Amino acid sequence: MINENDNTIIDILLFISVTLRQFAGNCSLTCEMSNKDNDRTGHAEPYMENRACIGNYEGDDMGHDLSSDTTIWDDAVALDRRHVFHTWHAQRNLHPEEIVGGHGSWLRFADGRDRLDLTSQQVNVNIGYQLPAVIAGIRKQAELLCTIGPDYANLARGRAASLVARRAPEGFDKVFFTNAGADANENAMRAARLVTGRDKIISSYRSYHGNTGSAISATGDWRRKPNDYARGHVHVFTPYLYRSEFSATTEQEECDRALRHLEHVIQFEGPDTIAAVLLESIPGTAGILIPPQDYFRGVREITRRYGILMITDEVMTGFGRTGFWMALDDYGYTPDIITFAKGCNSGYVPAGGVIMSHDVAAHFDDVVFPGGLTYSGHPLAMGAIVAAQEAMESEHIVDNAHDVGEKVLGPRLTALMDGHPKIGEIRGKGVFWAVEMVADRSSRKPLDDATMGAIVRAGHEIGVVIGVHANRIHVTPPCVITPDEAADGVDMLEKALKEAGC
Ligand SMILES: Cc1ncc(COP(=O)(O)O)c(C=O)c1O
Repeated sequence: MINENDNTIIDILLFISVTLRQFAGNCSLTCEMSNKDNDRTGHAEPYMENRACIGNYEGDDMGHDLSSDTTIWDDAVALDRRHVFHTWHAQRNLHPEEIVGGHGSWLRFADGRDRLDLTSQQVNVNIGYQLPAVIAGIRKQAELLCTIGPDYANLARGRAASLVARRAPEGFDKVFFTNAGADANENAMRAARLVTGRDKIISSYRSYHGNTGSAISATGDWRRKPNDYARGHVHVFTPYLYRSEFSATTEQEECDRALRHLEHVIQFEGPDTIAAVLLESIPGTAGILIPPQDYFRGVREITRRYGILMITDEVMTGFGRTGFWMALDDYGYTPDIITFAKGCNSGYVPAGGVIMSHDVAAHFDDVVFPGGLTYSGHPLAMGAIVAAQEAMESEHIVDNAHDVGEKVLGPRLTALMDGHPKIGEIRGKGVFWAVEMVADRSSRKPLDDATMGAIVRAGHEIGVVIGVHANRIHVTPPCVITPDEAADGVDMLEKALKEAGC
């Protein structure tokens, strides 16, 4: 029913329109600008005064020729356009908005306005912006020791590993730290291949696993196609009842048929060629596709039957996003390897990693693991993990995500369907929701990219940051969003839908 090529183009166009927009007024902002009038966050930090304090042009006596930058040294957007190469985009027509600060679930834009962030950026800022306890944790570690190589023991690293492993099932004690999610998946696949002595990795067409060699080949979405150089990757269809590949009409049918399809692919590929099945707990970028309750237990059974390892990608879903510490907690199964990143410290300092079950870790007790990174377990990232994990626990941030999903986002987003016929489906849990937009409910044809872009622009004017992927609005605020803020967010989203004619 869905045309994947259409989706690809829409994805690219919308990604551009979501993150980048008209900005001309922003370029001439000065440090005199007051931020107090519109401070809905209660945060009195003088963002605009701080803004020009990083880097001192006059003081550059290092022989750098910065003459071409003198006139724009205080202009973030102009500097960006001259020097910054952005991810996933053609560069010419980019017009990035300048963000000058943030607090909790709010972002301060250079136009002086605060907007409620319903995206958490790359769905990673689970603890919200500028959580004081985490800033203090990073500062404390910076004063103690900013950097130390991976070969040494370090208290922040050990504590971070212990706190992360605590969130995995029983028997997962060892953590290999990476810089982010892609290299976590890269090393998880490497481990699975070494443990099994097999080559192939099965993953979903509806997935994103990161932008490195094997991770991008394991990815199913459009980003794989121009980057598909790694060998040994096979893709399957995973459950998505709204656009079923299996002509299913119920969750149970979708589940059973997706499992049968997976097993057939394994049999036809040759089970003894397959090292692992790699799946996101809830495919995120692909559309927040909530798997049927029995699906993962079925995958576990099939993989065990054929001696195949199971890697669960919790990079986007881990640490509170779904109202559980790990999304897999809601599915009652135990994989062999878990990957994580984003929510472990909400990106305050980049970090990710691989949590290994006892058997996987034990394989490398006497066998060299041929993988490493200069910054594996970087102390500043580890300090941020320790502080973030402690804050998440003491401030009941995961419970908050669960309750906000159950009491506010779920019911209020679902209620939007009544007045908005272009909403095809609402699905999600915790602070992880998709609003699937369609041209009409009977055809389920994805809503056009121009209208999706109009929703984002209307939201910006109203005061809310709306994230769009293809024909879906992904409502993924920080896990710390309050029930009132979440309700306001849905109200603002509704206004944006109306203004865009939906
Ligand atoms: C499920 C999943 N896995 C892996 C990644 C890659 O993570 P990173 O961008 O930190 O490398 C992402 C990024 O969005 C993701 O959503």
